[in-house]
Amino acid sequence: MDNGHMGGMGGMGSDNQEDGNNDIGMGGMSGMMNHGDIPRLAASEGINELSIPPVLERQQGQDFDYEVTAQQGTTEFFEGVSTDTYGYNGDLLGPTLKLEEGESVDVKITNDLDEVTTFHWHGLEVPGEIDGGPHGEIQPGESQIITLEADQPAATLWYHPHVHGSTAEQVFKGLSGMLLIAEGAGSDSELPREYGVDDIPLIFQDRLFDKDNQLSYDRLMNQDGTLGDVSIVNGTINPKLTVTKSVMRFRLLNGANARNYTFQLSNGANFTQIASDGGLLDEPVETDTLTLAASERAEILIDFSTMTEEESLAIINDEGTVLLPFEIALEDSPADSANMWTTDEPFLTEQETEMPVSKEIELFGMADMVTINGKKFDMDRIDFRQEQGVTEVWEVYNKPDMMGGMIHPFHIHGTQFKIISRDGEEVEPNEQGLKDSVLVEPGERVKLLVTFPEKGIFVFHCHILEHEDNGMMGQIEVY
Ligand code: C2O
Ligand code: CU
Ligand code: CU
Repeated sequence: MDNGHMGGMGGMGSDNQEDGNNDIGMGGMSGMMNHGDIPRLAASEGINELSIPPVLERQQGQDFDYEVTAQQGTTEFFEGVSTDTYGYNGDLLGPTLKLEEGESVDVKITNDLDEVTTFHWHGLEVPGEIDGGPHGEIQPGESQIITLEADQPAATLWYHPHVHGSTAEQVFKGLSGMLLIAEGAGSDSELPREYGVDDIPLIFQDRLFDKDNQLSYDRLMNQDGTLGDVSIVNGTINPKLTVTKSVMRFRLLNGANARNYTFQLSNGANFTQIASDGGLLDEPVETDTLTLAASERAEILIDFSTMTEEESLAIINDEGTVLLPFEIALEDSPADSANMWTTDEPFLTEQETEMPVSKEIELFGMADMVTINGKKFDMDRIDFRQEQGVTEVWEVYNKPDMMGGMIHPFHIHGTQFKIISRDGEEVEPNEQGLKDSVLVEPGERVKLLVTFPEKGIFVFHCHILEHEDNGMMGQIEVY
């Protein structure tokens, strides 16, 4: 698969990168990497048109509707070099699985890898049995047919493997895909929704390559989260996106193992955030900055209607690095802006904000010394129990260490929760929506309003994938 090689940039691989790799590799091995030591991403040169993952096609005449196969492949990130990668139904990443609100589908999941994997539907409220967490192992060569029900609001979710101890490596090698719950046919939503045209998934990841331009995880990995200096969007290096519609909807996923992304527009302009992890925000929010920790999603609208083809615009990060430049080639006449919604209801009722805390989570540590409530993950231990459909308040505390501590993105399977408060304060409008992952700063206490609509065993964990693999994870049984 050609995934946007470097064109004239062929030299980029070797020298300077090799040094970088060593630094990072050593840091990881000693476990003492400075928390602030985050490699800068190389800017996109805008050489390759962004690859858009195809929408997964429905099967005809089978006893299942969709098929998702984890497999090995190769990807040409760099010209003339074939890099070993993993993908779903292909060489890298996976097709977009698109369900409609309320829809129920049978999905055949197959493991064509040489190692065990699982298929986790991140953000989908399904029973523990088919959630694809560490218990859901599928052996090499095996298949299973599961029923996924999209019994929750329209949202941008994703899927990825979740084998305990190998999640980080399998994701790093390329296993991730988008899972969209689309507004139902009867929806009066005026939001752009023509997939690949004005409704675009953007999977942001950083990768580290060795001197042979391979993703040699064992050598490159960092116990505190593998960080790379190469930015890929939807698997494309040096991407650009040609924009043909005046109002574009982007579904951003931070699909990195560990890196936090803070997105801005290169001209400093505002954009509109319309959704968080689990669906539309209470109200759209105008903003010029958006931070997503690993596994978080957001949907935004960017208005290009006043832009000319000569102007340049890009999505950049907070270091000013260009991640995705746009090429403007509008084909429509500036549309009336979509009718946005407002709400009179408060985000949380008074009763909800005053509920007592019933579950306490303490995140602590770094590298391979990470714990939750002082313990490492044990697949045979149930840490908490909660009744199906009954709402409880979880308080998540990120206990600082002697070096200050680090951000942990905390994720719970099987639920879309609301954030009640951060250190006692109401959250910003762009977090007033359903969430399944929440960025927790060192020293911060975050209160969550958590309900599980389905039964089963679910994990909760830090979504820095190496922390997860190192045991920063617990289990809850929903009964
Ligand atoms: Cu993205 Cu435990 O999952
Ligand atoms: Cu998940
Ligand atoms: Cu962590």
